[in-house]
Amino acid sequence: MTENNLYKLIIRRRSIRLFKQKKVSFDIIEKIIDCARLAPSAANLQFIDYLVVDKDALNKKVFAALTFAAYIYPKRTPPNGREPTFYIILLVNRHRTKEPNLRDIGLAAENILISLLTFNLGGCCLQNIDKDKIRKELKISDNYEIDSLIAAGYPDEAPRLETDSVNVKYWLDDNDCLHVPKRPLKDVLHYNNI
Ligand SMILES: Cc1cc2nc3c(=O)[nH]c(=O)nc-3n(C[C@H](O)[C@H](O)[C@H](O)COP(=O)(O)O)c2cc1C
Repeated sequence: MTENNLYKLIIRRRSIRLFKQKKVSFDIIEKIIDCARLAPSAANLQFIDYLVVDKDALNKKVFAALTFAAYIYPKRTPPNGREPTFYIILLVNRHRTKEPNLRDIGLAAENILISLLTFNLGGCCLQNIDKDKIRKELKISDNYEIDSLIAAGYPDEAPRLETDSVNVKYWLDDNDCLHVPKRPLKDVLHYNNI
């Protein structure tokens, strides 16, 4: 992939919350986790483990523990037949650190979100999740702290990028298309002085 393509992917990436019900092969999921494990890591501690869930029965249990798109809740909760087809749960392995540097998780999550795009997949990072429920349903031991998860699959929506200096709340239009405001470049880029 050329740099130019990567630039376009990053500009194009939006959180996807509606999915086609086509299964993603484990070969692809493995490559995505490979991208995550190679992300930068403070002191190279590499304390993140990745729990992949794609079995229908478990998917249902994870789905029940999630809150989607709080600003417009419940309008962007995936309806029956448009749910994520797999999940990547980001776990802090307590054997590897007592004080996780959360930047590591952000960097690994972005590697996942961008690599999904290279396989024509999409995803959404979720932290508004019932961690106790997920721990119980998936029998996750106390050696792991649940940080967040990425819900993913083949996209069944195409959210649109908007520019807005003030509003941070995404919205749905009359055609059920999600619009996501981002601060303009001129507002956030400070050149040599601020
Ligand atoms: C740390 C973090 C937690 C998030 N938690 C949730 C969540 O619980 N539910 C959800 O629907 N979206 C969640 N999101 C997705 C954000 O709503 C989304 O990134 C934001 O609206 C900007 O849209 P974009 O990703 O398309 O640029 C989360 C994003 C981040 C970075």
